[in-house]
Amino acid sequence: MSHATETTLFQIRTVWHETGRVFLLDQTLLPTVEKVIEIESVDAMWDAIKRLCVRGAPAIGVAAGYGVWIAARQALASGEDVRANALKACERLASSRPTAVNLFWALDRIKIIIKDNNTSGAALANIILLEADAIRAEDLESCKAIGRLGAALIKNGDTLLTHCNAGALATSGFGTALAPMFWAAHIEGKQISVYADETRPLLQGARLTAWELQKAGIPVTLICDSTAASVMSAKKIDGIIVGADRIAANGDVANKIGTYALAVLAHHHNVPFYVAAPWSTVDISSLTGADIPIEERTREEITLSGDNIIAPEGIAVFNPAFDVTPARLVTAYITDKGVFERISES
Ligand code: MRU
Repeated sequence: MSHATETTLFQIRTVWHETGRVFLLDQTLLPTVEKVIEIESVDAMWDAIKRLCVRGAPAIGVAAGYGVWIAARQALASGEDVRANALKACERLASSRPTAVNLFWALDRIKIIIKDNNTSGAALANIILLEADAIRAEDLESCKAIGRLGAALIKNGDTLLTHCNAGALATSGFGTALAPMFWAAHIEGKQISVYADETRPLLQGARLTAWELQKAGIPVTLICDSTAASVMSAKKIDGIIVGADRIAANGDVANKIGTYALAVLAHHHNVPFYVAAPWSTVDISSLTGADIPIEERTREEITLSGDNIIAPEGIAVFNPAFDVTPARLVTAYITDKGVFERISES
């Protein structure tokens, strides 16, 4: 693996603003099609978040910030009230997905900027854009910090396992769970390999994580979610790193459905289980995981594979997008503010 510097490090653009326009990479089409789409209305941004064109907790927050700016820009162009329309957009975007707290964290930041400023019109719209850009830039820095700090937990020759996609695509670039892998491999020159869970039902592991790691030149093996147990039992895994959509005050972690099962398996097989997330994912108003709202998605995500029907008509379906891993199963939290190890309870 060739050594890189922090600035030349592998990066993917997920959602960004350029010369007055907002773009995102449509993740529903990956890995076969790399298509950038322009988002021109709040409704289009809401839809892009809901349909997972942009996804992953930090990226959803960044997208929402730009969504509010789009509302401000449109209000300005049509002579409407920028403040009122921007606040309305905050409410609308907050209804897109319930679990990732970064969405609400980013919208709260924008709302504070709007409420604290006496400006209006173009000046206010510009302040909103600056805040949206700042959220994006800060997220990238957080990811780099997570990479640098998390890489210390990875040894040369390690084989790691991850679930869903918590890579560059899920953030402003560089990722959370994948960041320590990129850092260890590219900056520190460690030889590592990764097992990627396919992550049913929407296959973020197969479509996105496998794509990112392959693009980054890190050896990656795709497995069915149900294969993780036997891979761990064969003692092939040195550590598991996953991302988080929300971390409660007691350390419980909401992340992609299947994460909890993986944590139980890790505990059983004595494999370290790490959660990597920026501080914006910590929600102290959720005292425990039981306070975290879990998104339920459509039955078609499970009963269809593409256009093919793969379950009997009328079958009952339960399709939560996330689950909660109890804090006691987490070995350490890798954050941009440091690595916090759990002290085991006796
Ligand atoms: O439904 P998704 O694809 O948005 O779910 C994403 C995850 O669960 C990620 O692991 C989490 O958001 C962390 S991303 C850095």
